[in-house]
Amino acid sequence: MVDNKALIVALDFDDLDNVLRLTDRLDPSICRLKVGKQLFTRTGPMAVERLVDRGFDVFLDLKFHDIPNTVANAVSAAADLGVWMINVHAVGGSSMMKAAHEALAGRQNKPLLTAVTVLTSMAEADLAEVGFQGPALSRVVELAKLTERAGLDGVVCSAREAVELRKVVDPAFILVTPGIRLKGDSVGDQKRVVEPAAAIAAGADYLVVGRSITTAADPVRVIKRILSSLEPG
Ligand code: C5P
Repeated sequence: MVDNKALIVALDFDDLDNVLRLTDRLDPSICRLKVGKQLFTRTGPMAVERLVDRGFDVFLDLKFHDIPNTVANAVSAAADLGVWMINVHAVGGSSMMKAAHEALAGRQNKPLLTAVTVLTSMAEADLAEVGFQGPALSRVVELAKLTERAGLDGVVCSAREAVELRKVVDPAFILVTPGIRLKGDSVGDQKRVVEPAAAIAAGADYLVVGRSITTAADPVRVIKRILSSLEPG
C-alpha cells in the first residue's frame, strides 16, 4: 500500500528563510521533509527543530559513517531532535549499523533508521573507481541484506533496484528512493534516476525529490503535480 505521505521534499537550501518560504505553503499532511548536510551545516539543529515544531515529519539525512561508538552517539543526538527518520552508510558495516540500531532501542518516539546502499549519483564506473566491481544492483542487494540483518528499518537506494530488492527483503523493509526526476527535468549529478509513479510501481515506499521542486519557479505546483501522478488510476 502506498503511504499517503510518500513524498519527501529535500530542502537543500543555504538558509532558513528559503526553507520557511517554501514550507509555509506546505501542509504536513501531504508530504515529509528532508534536511541534509547542506542545510544542517548552515543552520545546525535549528532548521530541524523549527520544522518538527510545525508538525512536519523530518528525515535527517546526515548519512553517518564512522566508528560504531561515534555513530551510536550521533544517532542518539539526532533522535533527540524528534526526527522521523535518520540514516547511516551501510558500508560502515554491520558493527556500526548494529550500534546505531541499539542506540535507539527503548526510546519512546523512535525514529526510523535506514542505511544508504549505493548513492544514486554513482554508476558502475564510479563504483569501479573505489574498488567495487560489477553492477550497482548486486552491491545494493548485498548491502540491503546486511542492513536488514543488522536490524535497521530499511535502505536508501535507487528505484531502479526496487523490484529486485522487493524479492529479497521483508515486505515491511522500507525502500527510500532519491534520484527521482520528472519527465524533461535535468538529471544533474544523479545517474540512476526514475520518475515518481514508476518508482512507486517498482516498490519504493518513499520518494526523495530535491531540485525538481526546489529550483522550480513554483515549487508547490511541482509538489501537487507529483502527488497527483501518484494517485491510483
Ligand atoms: O536534487 P535531488 O532530487 O537530486 O536531491 C536528492 C537528495 O537526496 C539530495 O538531498 C541528496 O543528498 C539525497 N540523497 C541522494 N542519494 C542518496 C541518498 C540521499 O541523492 N543515496
